[in-house]
Amino acid sequence: MSTTNYIGKPVNRVDGPAKVTGAAKYAAEFNVPNLAYGHIVSSSIAKGKITKIYADEVLAIPGVLHVFSHENVPTLAWFDRSYKDDVAPGGSPFRPLQGNEVKYSQQPVALVVAETFEVARYAASLLRVDYDVEKHDTDLETKRDDGFEPGRGKTGWVPPPKPRGNPDSELKNAAHRIEGEYIHLAQHHNPMEMFASTVEFLGDKKLNIYDKTQGAFNSQQYVMKVFGLNKDEAHVVSQYTGGGFGSGLRPQYQLFMAVLAALELKRSVRVSMTRQQMFSMGHRPHTLQYVELGTNPDGSLAALHHHALHETSQYEDYTENVVNWSGMLYQCDNVKLTYQLAKIDVATPQDMRAPGAATGSFALECAMDEMAYEAGLDPLEFRLRNYAEIDQNLKREFSSKKLRECYHEGAAKFGWEKRNPEPRSMRDGDLLVGWGVATGVWDASIQKCAASASLSADGHLTVLSGSNDIGTGTYTIMTQIAAQTLGLPLEAVTFKLGDTNQPEAPLQGGSWTAASVGNAVKQVCDKLGEQLLKLAQKMEDSPLKGASYEDVEFVNGQIRLNADITQAVVIRDILPANGKDKLEAENTMLPNPINQLKNSLHAHNAVFVEVKVDPELGTLHVTRVVNAVAAGRILNPKTARSQVLGSVVWGISMALMEESVMDHGFGRYMNHNYSEYHIPVHADIHDIDVIFVEEEDDKVNPLGIKGLGEVGLLGVAAAVANAAYHATGKRIRNLPVSIDKLL
Ligand code: MOS
Repeated sequence: MSTTNYIGKPVNRVDGPAKVTGAAKYAAEFNVPNLAYGHIVSSSIAKGKITKIYADEVLAIPGVLHVFSHENVPTLAWFDRSYKDDVAPGGSPFRPLQGNEVKYSQQPVALVVAETFEVARYAASLLRVDYDVEKHDTDLETKRDDGFEPGRGKTGWVPPPKPRGNPDSELKNAAHRIEGEYIHLAQHHNPMEMFASTVEFLGDKKLNIYDKTQGAFNSQQYVMKVFGLNKDEAHVVSQYTGGGFGSGLRPQYQLFMAVLAALELKRSVRVSMTRQQMFSMGHRPHTLQYVELGTNPDGSLAALHHHALHETSQYEDYTENVVNWSGMLYQCDNVKLTYQLAKIDVATPQDMRAPGAATGSFALECAMDEMAYEAGLDPLEFRLRNYAEIDQNLKREFSSKKLRECYHEGAAKFGWEKRNPEPRSMRDGDLLVGWGVATGVWDASIQKCAASASLSADGHLTVLSGSNDIGTGTYTIMTQIAAQTLGLPLEAVTFKLGDTNQPEAPLQGGSWTAASVGNAVKQVCDKLGEQLLKLAQKMEDSPLKGASYEDVEFVNGQIRLNADITQAVVIRDILPANGKDKLEAENTMLPNPINQLKNSLHAHNAVFVEVKVDPELGTLHVTRVVNAVAAGRILNPKTARSQVLGSVVWGISMALMEESVMDHGFGRYMNHNYSEYHIPVHADIHDIDVIFVEEEDDKVNPLGIKGLGEVGLLGVAAAVANAAYHATGKRIRNLPVSIDKLL
C-alpha cells in the first residue's frame, strides 16, 4: 500500500499551525529595529489641485520626522515612464506624490513619518492641505452616452469576439424574446489584512521589503523601476497574505510610500493603510449591463445580445471581460457582444475575484432565467437544451467540459425535480420559498513558473517557488505534489514561497497558481528524481540498475522497480551512500503552447440556491446552496472545498449586501468602513454543499489542474436573484437584492 500518494487527499493545511499560533507573520508585523512609522494623508476632494501643504505645522510636533508630498518627492523617485506592473491596464499608472493634481477622492497626497505610529497618525490628522477644487463627475449613470471601446487593455484582456450570424434580425423574429438591464454599483475587496509594507533599511540602498501583495516579484519590479534599485537592493518578502481577491495584484501605494521614506530617511519604515484607505485603491467597477435573448419555438436560443458599460478612471482604461463568456456558455449562432468603458473621477478599478465573469454571469444567468419563464421551460431544462458542445467564440473543442454532470449531480443533490415552477407557489410556514439555478465558466490558465528542489542527506526535501498563498492553500497542495512525486512523507517536505530570492513565480491570480506552480513543482521534483535514480543505480548491488525513470516508482520513501517492494532502494540512503550532502535541481516550467492554442480551456459550475423570504418584512435568507464544480483534477478536496465555500459566501454577499455607495456631492464612497459596507456574518450563512464533478483532462496541463480560485463565485448572485424571483415573483435586476426592493 502506498502511503505517500497525497494528490487528491484532504490533507490539512501545512501552514495551519503557523497561522493559528501567530507564528505566521504578515507585512505589518515585522518589528525590525529602529522602525519609523508613516501615515498616509488622503485627499478630501475628488478633483482639483493642491495649492498648499502646511507641512511646517506638523513638523513642529515632537516625534515627527518628515512630511513627503509632491513638493519634495518628484526628485526622489524617478519612475521609469515605460514601466507598467504585470496587470496594468492601458493608460498611465497612478504615480503617488508626483504632482499637485487630485484625480479621485482619498487619493494619497502626503506621507507623515514619525517616531511612533500614534504620532504619525496624529500629525497626519492635523496636516492642513489647501485645494483648488474643480467640479468632479463620479456618476456612471450620467455617462451612458459617453462609452467608448477600449484600445489595448491589460495583459489577458481579450476584446469581445466579433458578432456572429444575424443577431439583430433573429432577435426581432424570435418566438420568445426578453430584454433587461442589470446593474451593480462598485464593490470593494476588503481582505482582512490591510495593505502594509515594512521596509527594513539595511544600509546604502539595500532594502528588505515585507509587503502585502499577491506577487512578490511584481512588487520587486515596481520598486526597482520606480527607485532605480537592482534586484539585490529590493528584496521583497510576502510569505503570508491575509486575503487578496485581486486587490494585491498591482503594487499598492503604501509600498511606494514606505520605500520612499526608508530610502530618504535611511531608516526602516512601515506604512499601513487604514480600513477607510482600503476604499481608495481600486474596486470592482460599477457596471450597467443589457441582455437581450430570443428563442425558437423549441426553446433553443435563436439570438443573444449582451452589452456592458462600466466605469474606469481618468488615467487608465481598466478592462475586464464582462461579456465574452456569454458567447461560449450556450450554443447560439447569432450573437452580439459589446463592451464599453466610461471615464469618471475615481481610482482605477481593479480585478476582484472572477473579474468580469462574476458580474457578466449575474446578468446573463438572470436573463436566462427570465427567458426560461418566457418560453415556459424549467430553467435547468432550458440550459440543458442550449448546452454548448464546442466553444463557439474560439471555434474549438473544450479540453474537457463536465458542465452537464454539474447540472445533473447538483440538481440531484439539491432535489430540483421537486420544484414547482410557479412563483410564490412554495412555502415553509409563512415564509416564501424560492429555488434558483445559474451557471458559470472561467478560464483554466497557466503561466510560466520556475521552481527549485533540494534534498538533504537526511532525506528532507525543500522546494521553492516565489509564489503566494492568499489563503488558497498553495503551501499545502505544493507540499502534496512534491511529496508524492518523490515518494516522501509530508513531514519530510517543506515548500516555501513568497520571497524574491526564490525562483520566479507568477502573481497569484487568475486561478492559475495551482496549475502553474503545481506543474512547476512536479517538473522540478521529477528532475531531482531522475538524478536520484542515477545515484541509486550507482549503489552497490542496486536492484535498480538499468532501469529508466519510467520503470520505477517513488513511494513510501523508496524508489521501487515496477512497484516491486523487494526491488527497492531507500531514498534516505542514497545521498550518504554516494558521499553527497545534498542534491539540487532547478527548472522553469513553460506551458505547452500547442495545447494552449488547440483547445478551449475552461472550468465550469452549476449553482442551486434556496431562499426563504418573509413576505411581510422582505427579509431574505439563503438557506441552502449546492455548488457543483468541474475544475479538472482536485488536488486537495479540503482546501478546494474551502475555496468554493468562500466563493459561495461571497456570492451571497454580492447578491444581498455589497455595494459601495458613492456620495456624488463629495465624489466619495460613503460607506467606506466595515460597519457600513455590509458583508455576511455567520448568522447569514446556512447550508452550503460543494460537489466536485469528476473531470479528467490530459490536455489542459500535465497534472490536469484547472484552478478553483474564481469559478465557484460564478452564477451564485444570479442563482440567489433567480431564487428570489421564484419565491416572490419580483425580478430584481439591480444588486443587491435588498429588503426595500423585495417589499
Ligand atoms: Mo484574482 S481577481 O485574479 O486575485
